[in-house]
Amino acid sequence: MLNDKLYIKTWGCQMNEYDSSKIADILESKLNCKITKSIKNANILILNTCSVREKAQEKLFHQLGRWKILKKNNPEIIIGVGGCVATQEGKKILNRANYVDIIFGPQTFHRLPQMIYKIRKFKKYLIDISFPKIEKFKFFPITKKKNISSFISIIEGCNKYCTYCIVPHTRGKEISRPYQDILLEIKNLSIQGVKEIHLLGQNVNSYNYFDNKNKKYYNFTKLLILISKIENIKRIRFTTSHPKDFSDDLINIYKKIPKLVNYVHLPVQSGSDKILSLMKRRYTISEYSKIINKLRIVRPNIHISSDFIVGFPGETEKDFKNTLSLILDLDLDMGFSFIYSPRPKTPASKIKDNINILEKKRRLYLLQYYIKQQTKKFSSRMLNTIQIILVEGVSTQNNKYFGKTENNRIVFFISEKNYIGKFINVKIIDSYIYSLYGKFISLYKN
Ligand code: SAH
Ligand code: SF4
Ligand code: F3S
Repeated sequence: MLNDKLYIKTWGCQMNEYDSSKIADILESKLNCKITKSIKNANILILNTCSVREKAQEKLFHQLGRWKILKKNNPEIIIGVGGCVATQEGKKILNRANYVDIIFGPQTFHRLPQMIYKIRKFKKYLIDISFPKIEKFKFFPITKKKNISSFISIIEGCNKYCTYCIVPHTRGKEISRPYQDILLEIKNLSIQGVKEIHLLGQNVNSYNYFDNKNKKYYNFTKLLILISKIENIKRIRFTTSHPKDFSDDLINIYKKIPKLVNYVHLPVQSGSDKILSLMKRRYTISEYSKIINKLRIVRPNIHISSDFIVGFPGETEKDFKNTLSLILDLDLDMGFSFIYSPRPKTPASKIKDNINILEKKRRLYLLQYYIKQQTKKFSSRMLNTIQIILVEGVSTQNNKYFGKTENNRIVFFISEKNYIGKFINVKIIDSYIYSLYGKFISLYKN
């Protein structure tokens, strides 16, 4: 039999990117499937979806409509829909797209090989969007290095239930992955040459694993200490952390672990206490500011990025202005900002929305302008400085080598020699808002 060819399309967050890479690894090892970038060659099509904002269902059916034609021409094609829209909509997807074969959730994708086997045998659709207790990690084959920097999921789901957010409903309750598994995965990657790891979770800093053997709890700070001892891992990043769980212990660990990068993504969402309370974010602006200020005492040059939602129901011009001021007061570096989008079954979707779309767009535009000015300021300060970057590869955009600074900026540079996988010193010779251009100076020894 010819090899199966797998095509995966991914929408959404880094967790979804991570899940897609695991889906590929599992199908590759269990079905001897080959990954293809060309949909025309594929006979297994997977769509890994996101429902955090916008019209997720519409986008899904639009995409499936295109795949329907492929299936009409070749009925052997298997179509699977996974991710957060799959959990949210479940069987309803079949009402509008009865040619879909498999509907699976973020916690059940490890069962795909059996599901594909069953589809071929019984020719009947399958739905599995349950939340089994952290079963999936046991099914992951040994992670193969794909990049010098590698993502690792450490915690799944979310228990915070912010009033606007769909994630706890689509990814389920928080479950921390055993720390031994995490360490093993990272050690394996480091043996293969990975130098930087990026820990993933909806709230990495609420990580809390109880080890039954030694009857001890392992929180995020303890996990970071253990990871930092893996010699060949030189940099540690994480997203996303929640202000409520950003403990003093975690702040202080920045003193002890230089491998923790000088960059934290800490979503604040709004600069108004009233809106934060309506969002059920569980912190005030004063508490959020204290975290940033304490972090800056430990790491004076730390760069902070954040997420913002504008146009949350009840947000007045004054509330919005508080968000703008916060960006300047706390001297934030980067930000991701979104117009509030009512999500099915969330408490916020029941609050009367009193802000019209034009006004929401105006606020978004203004907020993004503020953030851009900040990012630009920090990028231009880097001009003529020497920065350490970890060289990750050659860019498909401009054919130049690129690497990242600790503060998450891409630096492009020209070089005769291949430095991929190495830390190097570069002098920044040109600065744009989100990227920099550099000149190779020397290898960096760490
Ligand atoms: N767990 C993370 C982020 C999860 S989703 C945290 O709590 O910080 C990523 C971002 O999407 C959020 O930070 C928020 O800014 C945005 N977001 C989530 N739900 C949204 C909604 N209903 N409308 C608009 N933006 C939303
Ligand atoms: Fe959503 Fe809030 Fe959980 Fe983040 S903390 S995933 S915004 S519910
Ligand atoms: Fe989207 Fe689900 Fe991630 S809703 S942002 S794919 S957790």
